[in-house]
Amino acid sequence: MSDKQQIYKDVRQRIEAIVQDDTDWIATLSTVCCELHAAFEHFHWTGFYRVVRPGHLQVGPYQGGHGCVDIAFGRGVCGTSALEKRTIRLDDVDSFPGHIACSSTTRSEIVTPVVTNSGEVIAVLDVDSDWPAAFDGTDQEALESLCAWLGSASRQNG
Ligand code: SME
Repeated sequence: MSDKQQIYKDVRQRIEAIVQDDTDWIATLSTVCCELHAAFEHFHWTGFYRVVRPGHLQVGPYQGGHGCVDIAFGRGVCGTSALEKRTIRLDDVDSFPGHIACSSTTRSEIVTPVVTNSGEVIAVLDVDSDWPAAFDGTDQEALESLCAWLGSASRQNG
């Protein structure tokens, strides 16, 4: 197991220990943001966009500088990830037409949708880095696993 995989394992254990059986959605998402953001040097903006009305993502909770508040499905990296229900990992944000630049220092990004057992997108997890090509397959695998856990039935109601 690589150092990074070990950190993800530790982060995941901490998150699950902290939230335990608490089903409050915002408390859970806040804990995830905090633990991820504090654990990794390459995470410069770490947060969620939640589906608060059909076809729209609303920012929060997050850690880092301000994020744009509302993103329609299909717009930017987050909206595309939500619409297409897939992770988008960009070594260079400028390679993605329509990338929404909330910070001019962002160079790379990974966005993973949170999908319920019934196939509904309820949020996306967005991580931005000021480093180019900051995210690799280990990040993607761990963040997808975390988002699958968040989307599982036990965490949806709060
Ligand atoms: N880059 C994202 C917008 C969110 S912020 O970077 C925090 C996008 O293109 O959807």
